[in-house]
Amino acid sequence: MGFDGPYADTFERMQEMMGDLVPEFELREKAELVVQINRLKKERKALILGHNYMEPALFHTVADVTGDSLELCRQAARTDAEILVFCGVEFMAETAKIINPTRTVLIPSQKAGCSLASSITAADVRELKRRYPGVPVVTYINSYADVKAETDICCTSGNAVAVVESLGTDSVIFIPDEYLAANVARETGKHVIFPETDPRKIQAPSTVIDKVFVGWHGKCEVHEKFTTEDIARVRLQFPDVVVLAHPECSPEVTAAADFTGSTSAMIKYVDKVNAPHYLLLTECAMGDNIIAAHKDRDILRLCSVRCPHMQQITLQDTLAALQLLRYKVDVPADIIVKAKRAIDRMLAIG
Ligand code: 13P
Ligand code: SF4
Repeated sequence: MGFDGPYADTFERMQEMMGDLVPEFELREKAELVVQINRLKKERKALILGHNYMEPALFHTVADVTGDSLELCRQAARTDAEILVFCGVEFMAETAKIINPTRTVLIPSQKAGCSLASSITAADVRELKRRYPGVPVVTYINSYADVKAETDICCTSGNAVAVVESLGTDSVIFIPDEYLAANVARETGKHVIFPETDPRKIQAPSTVIDKVFVGWHGKCEVHEKFTTEDIARVRLQFPDVVVLAHPECSPEVTAAADFTGSTSAMIKYVDKVNAPHYLLLTECAMGDNIIAAHKDRDILRLCSVRCPHMQQITLQDTLAALQLLRYKVDVPADIIVKAKRAIDRMLAIG
């Protein structure tokens, strides 16, 4: 295939934007894939949704809409495209399917899991509800559909405080992220307890719990790696650095950071607040995406920290998804009905 016409134009645009991040031979290969994806996307009338953790070539050139989990959820609820290609992990693509049961939702790889989503099962949630009857269940969007189906309301990192406050109750079951629970509990004046898992010590159902989050020991395998020592080391070298942490980081890390927010909240912060350096405590690809869009920003990040699940989504597999209409996301109809209630309640909160 000759390297002219649309390939050359696309390559030039990509070179200008991300030439300092991606080697030239790789950009040439990627430019060809981008042109093919964008052509086929039009033919199929498909919409590509890209999470903020997608690699820069995919994020900046083929995704029609980008954002954090909440923004992508809202976009998925608004679209009238017949085919949605979800460039993100499985729980996100499942959420898009729950919101759009009649449309085709594709995910480019079947290996894009999530350590938080796989930390809890629907049976676990049923057991929590049995032990704490009447206590509302708030489930982080990073969970699978059958878990959402057992839930009163979902939340994301972008609206967790608002969701908890909307309930107006003293106690909530907040699952499955231990650290997000601790961070949101701190902001809403509560503390976190964990249910006893030793069957010999399990007590009868309890109704006397006060101002607590009943939590779960799920963790993000990426954000749990950041430590307060990391922050101290970077501050030593760059005393004027602004530290931004995702709320899936430990409460010690978020307390030591200057700002805590969802992936999009971090992007907006860098956009609006001028600082000499920024340290992003989150998945590394997002730093690349910000650098590609803002050449004037000095983004520091600890780049040994990648999400092995998000990384599964490549341009090659996105093209194959459109060519072969694979991999279709399917969720059983009864689960869709119940899980959709929990997502719709969340979306109803501004
Ligand atoms: P956001 O909703 O903040 O994008 O987070 C999703 C996620 O998986 C972070 O690890
Ligand atoms: Fe899951 Fe963490 Fe990867 Fe986000 S970064 S998809 S929470 S494992």
